[in-house]
Amino acid sequence: MFDKLDQLQDAATSAVAAAADEGGLRELEVHYLGKKGAVTELLKGMKDVPVADRPRLGARANEVRNAVESAIATRRGALEHERIRRLCDDPDFDASLPVSAPFATRPGALHPLTRVTAHIEDVFRAMGFLLLDYPEVESEFHNFDGLNIPPTHPARDMQDTFWVETPPGQERQLLRTHTSTGQVRTMRLVTPPFRAIFPGRVFRYEEVDASHEHTFHQVEGLMIDRKVSVANLIYSMKTLLSEIFERDVVIRLRPGYFPFVEPGFELDIQCQVCGGRGCSVCKHSGWVELLPCGLVHPNVLRHGGLDPSQWQGWAFGLGLSRLVMMRYQIEDIRHLLGGDLRFIKQFSPAAATTTTTHTSGA
Ligand code: PHE
Repeated sequence: MFDKLDQLQDAATSAVAAAADEGGLRELEVHYLGKKGAVTELLKGMKDVPVADRPRLGARANEVRNAVESAIATRRGALEHERIRRLCDDPDFDASLPVSAPFATRPGALHPLTRVTAHIEDVFRAMGFLLLDYPEVESEFHNFDGLNIPPTHPARDMQDTFWVETPPGQERQLLRTHTSTGQVRTMRLVTPPFRAIFPGRVFRYEEVDASHEHTFHQVEGLMIDRKVSVANLIYSMKTLLSEIFERDVVIRLRPGYFPFVEPGFELDIQCQVCGGRGCSVCKHSGWVELLPCGLVHPNVLRHGGLDPSQWQGWAFGLGLSRLVMMRYQIEDIRHLLGGDLRFIKQFSPAAATTTTTHTSGA
C-alpha cells in the first residue's frame, strides 16, 4: 500500500506538471482527488492492512493528497501566467482599451454615512440652513473655553480628548471632541439672524465596543435669532427626525447637562434596531441618545461677539453615526469605519432599493 501511494504521488505530480491547459488540469484533479478518484479508491484497500499500520497509512494518504493538491495549484498559477503572457505578446492586444463588461458596469456604492449626511444636508438646505465645514484639528478655545468649559470644569472629563503636540507658548490644539467647535466660529463669521449646520468627524479617546468608536460623526445645528424658544427647538427637532426617518419615530426628552446650553436636553429615540426591546446598540435599554440640544448659553453668545440681551439661539449635536445605525439597523458601530467592502456593497443603489424599506434617494 505504501509503495502504491508513492507511485500514485509520482505519477500524479508528473502528470500535473505536464498538463497543457486548464481543462486537462481539471481532469487530473477529478481523476486523482475526486470522490471516486485514485486516492480514495486506493484507500478502499485499507481494510486489508493490519490495524496497527492504518493510522500511518492514513497520514501518508493525506500527504499524497496534499502534495497533489499543491502541485495542481502551482501548475494552475503557471498556466494562468502563461495565458496572460501570451495575451500581452499578442500584437492585437491593446492594454489601453476600456475594461469590458461586466467589470466596467459594476456600480460603486455610497457609504451609508455619506448617504445619510447628504440627506440631512438636503433637509436642512430646504429649511434655509447654511452648510458649513470646520477643521478637525482645533484650538482648545473653540472646543472648550469658548463653549463655557474652562480648564477646571468637570465637563472636560466627559469627553476624553486626543491632544495634539503643540510648541510651548502656543495655544493648545486637539482633535475636536464634538462639532460644537463650530458654534463660536459661526457666530463670529455670519451676521445674525442665521441658521446653519456643520457636519463632521469627531474624535474621543474611548474604549471601542459595539456602540463606541474613537472616531465618529456628528451634525451640529445652530440657529440664532431675536426670539428663540424651547418650543421652537423641540418642533424643529421633531421635524428633522420625521424627515430623516420618513416616518414617525418615538422620542423622549430628558433634561441634559452641557455647559454651553441652558436649558439643555437629551433627546432619545426608541431603538430602531430592536424596536425598543433591548439590544447591544441601545445597551438593552430600548432607547438611544441621539440628539442632545438646548438653548445657547449667554456666555457662548458673548464669546461669539453677540449680545445676549439682543440675541438668542438653539443648538443641537446630532449623533450621525448612531443615526445611521438606527436607520439601516446596523448592530455594531465598528462596521462604519471598518473598511470592509462587503459591508459597503450592501448599500449599492441596487442593494439599497431591495433591502432597505426607507431609502432616501439622497
Ligand atoms: N457637543 C455635545 C456633545 O457632543 C452635544 C451638544 C451639542 C449638546 C449642542 C447641546 C447642544 O456631547
